[in-house]
Order: sequence, then C-alpha cells, then structure tokens
Amino acid sequence: MNISVAIDGPAAAGKSTIANIIAHKFNLMYINTGSMYRAAALLCMRERVCYKDVDKVCEIVKSLKMHFEKDRLIVNGEDLTEGIKHPDVSNNVSNYAAIFKLRKLLVKLQQDMAGNFNVIMDGRDIGTVVLKNAPLKFFLTASASERAKRRYLELKKKGIDVEYNEILDEIIKRDYIDSHRESSPFIKAEDAIEINSSGLSIYQVVEIISGYIRNYIKEHN
Ligand code: C5P
Repeated sequence: MNISVAIDGPAAAGKSTIANIIAHKFNLMYINTGSMYRAAALLCMRERVCYKDVDKVCEIVKSLKMHFEKDRLIVNGEDLTEGIKHPDVSNNVSNYAAIFKLRKLLVKLQQDMAGNFNVIMDGRDIGTVVLKNAPLKFFLTASASERAKRRYLELKKKGIDVEYNEILDEIIKRDYIDSHRESSPFIKAEDAIEINSSGLSIYQVVEIISGYIRNYIKEHN
C-alpha cells in the first residue's frame, strides 16, 4: 500500500519537527521542501544574485544537486542543513520562492524524489500542487505570536542572537509574501484537515496526525 502525507502550514508552525517524528514512527521518507527553497536562496545569496535576476537564479538552481540523507539536506556535496536556517536566509527566501520558474524546477525535483515511495512532505503547496492526490493532507496553523515564540527559543538554544520582535516581523512578512504571490500561493487545500496547534504540544499534534494515518492504514489494508 502506498501512503503519502502532505503537511502545509505557515512559517514556524512546527511542520518539520512533527513531520520528522511521524516519518520515523511510520517509516516514511521525509522531504522538507522548505529546506530546498532555503538552499536555493542561500546559494543565490552566496553568489550575490538578487531574486529579481530570474535567469541567473534559475541557472544556479539548475546546477544544484540536492538530496536528503535522512533529515540532512546535501547540496552539491555540502551539508546545508544548519546554514539554511540562518535568519538572513529566512528573511530572503520568500522572494526567491515566489519565482515561477524556480518553483517549477523544485516541484519537479520534489515529485521525482517522492517517486513511488511512502512519503511525508511538508511545505506550502504540497496539498495543492506537489502531492495533489495525497490521501492524507494536513494544514497546521498557530498564532503568529506563538510561532515566533517557538522559533525564538529554538534559535536562542542554538546560540543564535535574535530579538523576539524581529522574528515576529519576519514570519508575518514571510506569510504575507507566501500567501500573496502569483505562483502557487500558500492556501489550504480544500481536502486538508486543519489543526490549530496553539496551546498544543508537539506530541499532541503528532498524536492527532498519527490517529488519521493509523485509520487510513486500517481502512486500506
Ligand atoms: O518551511 P520553511 O519555513 O522552511 O520554508 C521557507 C520558505 O520557503 C517559505 O517561507 C516559502 O517562501 C518557501 N516555500 C515554498 N513552498 C514550499 C515550501 C517552502 O514556497 N513548498
């Protein structure tokens, strides 16, 4: 039986932590699409290529060999898992991710990666575009202040010096660009199950999603 699970949600909603736990629990391949957009942005920023230079951006993205090793993202042989989480990347990634041609390249790569495997994929357009036919789709939300608080604590724990208000502004700005872009704007798929995680722990959300997956497996075995 093939299972594919799509998890979409706004910035810092806890998608990757939750998807990672569920991937281990149900033996699914985890594909973090946000990290792919982040890697594309980081590599362009390193080359000082602005998001407005669409041709140059696409040339760089086409030259990238991306693959996941468990939950690590390797790009052209370099482990970028930590580098892509830097606040400079967070501040700029949405401008790159709004480029239609760049999205086309990454969506194709994501669909190829998913192939015929049992996957869990998280992002902004998974339920609406990348895995449109996924039988299990979730839309994870939480208030902007709660998401900013979680992200602030996560970065502080890693020793990255940030201000809470800067994080809040960044995620509000990113949500705005992501949901107002022309190409695959971030919206809830009609058939996605919405989970508001405000006030819930990571493990409570994992339990809710796991319940739906267990039911699906039971019904399709
Ligand atoms: O998931 P994460 O917050 O790391 O994603 C970083 C950015 O990548 C998002 O703010 C969005 O601009 C872009 N993204 C996207 N489509 C996806 C995943 C991420 O546009 N499927």
